[in-house]
Amino acid sequence: MPAAMLPYACVLVLLGACMAEAAGAAGGGRLHWEPRCQQPLPDRMPSTAVLPPRLDGPWISTGCEVRPGPEFLTRSYTFFPNRLFRAYQFYYRDPFCQEPAHSLLIKGKVRLRRASWVTRGATEADYHLHKVGIVFHGRQALLDVTGRLNQTQAGRDCAQRLPPAWAWLPGALYELLSTRAEGDCMAALGFTMHELSLVRVQRHLQPQPRAAPRLVEELYLGDIHTDWAERQQYRPTGYQRPLQSALHHARPCPACGLVARSDVRHPPALPAPLALPLRLGGRWVSAGCEARPAVLFLTRHFTFHAPGRSWEGSYRHYSDPACRQPTFTVHAAGRYSRGTPSARVRGGTELVFEVTRAHVTPMDQVTTAMLNFSAPGSCGGPGAWAVGTERDVTATNGCLPLGIRLPHVEYELFKMEQDALGQSLLFIGQRPTDGSSPDTPEKRPTSYQAPLVLCGREVRDSSRPPQLQKAPGGGGPGPRVAPLPLLLLVLGPASLQWL
Ligand SMILES: *[C@@H]1O[C@H](CO)[C@@H](O)[C@H](O)[C@H]1NC(C)=O
Ligand SMILES: *[C@@H]1O[C@H](CO)[C@@H](O)[C@H](O)[C@H]1NC(C)=O
Repeated sequence: MPAAMLPYACVLVLLGACMAEAAGAAGGGRLHWEPRCQQPLPDRMPSTAVLPPRLDGPWISTGCEVRPGPEFLTRSYTFFPNRLFRAYQFYYRDPFCQEPAHSLLIKGKVRLRRASWVTRGATEADYHLHKVGIVFHGRQALLDVTGRLNQTQAGRDCAQRLPPAWAWLPGALYELLSTRAEGDCMAALGFTMHELSLVRVQRHLQPQPRAAPRLVEELYLGDIHTDWAERQQYRPTGYQRPLQSALHHARPCPACGLVARSDVRHPPALPAPLALPLRLGGRWVSAGCEARPAVLFLTRHFTFHAPGRSWEGSYRHYSDPACRQPTFTVHAAGRYSRGTPSARVRGGTELVFEVTRAHVTPMDQVTTAMLNFSAPGSCGGPGAWAVGTERDVTATNGCLPLGIRLPHVEYELFKMEQDALGQSLLFIGQRPTDGSSPDTPEKRPTSYQAPLVLCGREVRDSSRPPQLQKAPGGGGPGPRVAPLPLLLLVLGPASLQWL
């Protein structure tokens, strides 16, 4: 029945999921909504990487972005054939990107270097900045920035480049960095363009109701460290939410035209989103193969049982950026707290998650051998591991070799939104870039991961206590429903680097 309620859900879940749905329906009604809840299956993912990446052209944010801090922004970057680029970053006071505060104009040159050895599927690049200018869209925005700069000596030097509040001129561009200007204002402002040092361009087809599929091009740029103090030094190993080509973006996209037509003096004010109250009950799935900093590729699938506030989750890990070569799957389950509105990240809801049970399924020889050789009692009871066979690791308090510790508590930040197609999206907090877990209130995220898509609403009468579902054994690509649920993050990417 959820299929009938969400007629377009498959559109964003990638072409493959739609085809799976059709195939499932043809093969007998039973699966008719479940395929949409599958983690995108490797052989159905039509996204292809463009190698070497072609950056030329205009790229835009498709919605309001949240960076650690939090910072709310939209971006519009144009790359020219002579390797020069011009980037606009529009910053906002509010979490919906409706009230512009200030905008940055960034000009420079970028040069692609080589395929990344750290992040498979990514290309490393060098960049050089020629100019950075700032425009304030109000006196208060200027006061906010100078107030922040005033806190350090470097910042006070930098603030010299900005006018006193009474002398501020609407539309005036103040140079923060140029070939003439001495010193570096960038660090004082917490600004870097290191995102340009890791790039990936990806294409896929977006199915259209009653029309030929449409080409969508995405530009993935390097991630921003979740710890403000690390931002200047950090070289990205994961990605931010992708920009899309202004010419080939997914539709509908109410923000796209606005962002594409903007410039540093005319920032886009996005239309009010349909912010949804947090109604977690149901099943949520990754819209595609996700990349985590430090070499981790995965898909996620969560089930929340609202009546008892319990959850189940599964993370399927892969060794490749297309999520074709599975390495292992973790299923976890536990309870979660009632949510409270976040004071720090407006629009977000704070929750506490508890992970009390976990199962692990190794999916390749390397992981199986590693688990076989792990210290007795560190990951599952006595007995051998085999490829595709799930084992309970609850009794051993988790699985040390994989960085899973039980019981485990995580301080979370969630938000829900409805996209232009009427689909419900669930944003879960960004994991700390250093691979640790947000296990104290201070480490609670201030930004979000790629959203999960609602693929099945909780049926009212399903208040029975959740069962930790068995993994669908083997790595077979068959359209078996993975009744996997969701797991927040128990896995420290750092502990997985050897994979
Ligand atoms: C920044 O510091 C200068 C001098 O220390 C002061 O005159 C100015 O008012 C301060 N600005 C803000 C916005 O706090
Ligand atoms: C794991 O251990 C079992 C039992 O000792 C063995 O049969 C199996 O081949 C091992 N698997 C790997 C991948 O080492």
